[in-house]
Amino acid sequence: MKPMTPSATKFQTTPPVAKEPVKVLLLENIHQSAHELFRSRSFEIETRSSAMKEDELIAALAGVDMLGIRSKTHVTARVLEKADKLLSIGCFCIGTNQVDLDAANRRGVPVFNAPFSNTRSVAEMIIAESIMLARQLGDRSREVHAGTWKKVSKACYEIRGKTIGLIGYGHIGQQLGVLAEAMGMRVVYYDIAQKLPMGNNRALPTLEALLAESDFVSLHVPATPETHNMIGAAELAHMRKGAYLLNASRGSVVVIPALAEALKSGHLAGAAIDVYPEEPESNSDGFLTELQKLPNVILTPHIGGSTEEAQEAIGREVSRALTQLVTTGATTGAVNFPNVELPPLKATHRILNVHRNVPGVLRDVNRIVSDVNANIDSQVLSTDANIGYLIMDLSQDVSAEVSRRIGALETSIRTRVLY
Ligand SMILES: NC(=O)c1ccc[n+]([C@@H]2O[C@H](COP(=O)([O-])OP(=O)(O)OC[C@H]3O[C@@H](n4cnc5c(N)ncnc54)[C@H](O)[C@@H]3O)[C@@H](O)[C@H]2O)c1
Repeated sequence: MKPMTPSATKFQTTPPVAKEPVKVLLLENIHQSAHELFRSRSFEIETRSSAMKEDELIAALAGVDMLGIRSKTHVTARVLEKADKLLSIGCFCIGTNQVDLDAANRRGVPVFNAPFSNTRSVAEMIIAESIMLARQLGDRSREVHAGTWKKVSKACYEIRGKTIGLIGYGHIGQQLGVLAEAMGMRVVYYDIAQKLPMGNNRALPTLEALLAESDFVSLHVPATPETHNMIGAAELAHMRKGAYLLNASRGSVVVIPALAEALKSGHLAGAAIDVYPEEPESNSDGFLTELQKLPNVILTPHIGGSTEEAQEAIGREVSRALTQLVTTGATTGAVNFPNVELPPLKATHRILNVHRNVPGVLRDVNRIVSDVNANIDSQVLSTDANIGYLIMDLSQDVSAEVSRRIGALETSIRTRVLY
């Protein structure tokens, strides 16, 4: 269906509201920035500092509209089946595989996360590590801690004027390209997608070209079959002698034994690794890698995005998405749901309907609207393989009747009205 777009003067400046108070359950110590936004909307908040197991979660979700979790609470199909009031789930983290996304989709529950709130934190860490590698700062610090005074300038460099090659020029790659250029570096990048270069950053046509041209190679690709073992012995051999490798993307991208070999042979002058093929489950587990004890190798425990600022930004970003869903029905950024957004209109009520994506739904909806002689002021529909999501603004006197009848359709999964 074509969206009907009303004139700008008809837009409401304050969003419509749901009639019932909105109840939010926040688990796993979600940042205060989220609490603040929910409170400003008068949502009722209940918090628990830890994660919940399945049965405990089912009991706690009675009467709850919004659930906020981090990575340790698993929201299974069984939880979703029992949580009949649940409107949405916010994952206050990057990953969403702790939620059964397909089950949530089929029950009309959009799931939101914050994939880019820690972009800047990762980019800053790579700049810091580039300087640390070029100046061998990790080794010097360790030596002085151990009582050794080794004042040297040989093989220690500025990063100014050096070339950094970014593999993957998405959110982090681009942010890093801007920062690196500000530090006086030349920036080249390789990406499978065509990307607009920032500043004087320059795209290269192949991975080999990038490896051959770069003093620093920094990886910013996702984990995909194509990026699995993307940097192995052959690629390391393609890198310049004395170059540095940095990986704060995913552990599956670099072949660690090949990297250890390239460092031991002196072909590479150093490396900074934040992510590993296998990482410990918790801080109390031990950790072993072939890269330990090698000179000028910085090893960090997957902390690229771990800053107070990133946590605060995650709290803000996810709570904003949940609030928008409640007040306007917008699903922009939902990972398992048709993405729809429509500015609220003056003097209308808004009907939000999730239905099974089968033929004839729109015909039924339009028949109901025409039966009550209602005028639709704006309407937008988006679908995926399982469901359709319809937002419809119409006159206030008929909204209750229309929503009751749409909600009663056999195809409807959930229907609500914003006043
Ligand atoms: N260390 C950490 O704590 C930390 C924190 C945040 C993100 N990350 C990781 O950093 C990586 C990048 O994150 P982002 O937010 O920039 O992602 P993004 O999706 O914005 O960018 C990824 C880029 O890689 C490109 N790409 C995909 N496959 C490629 C290939 N085979 N060759 C070249 N380019 C390819 C994509 O086109 C895209 O431009 C992700 O793997 C993410 O999981 C790590």
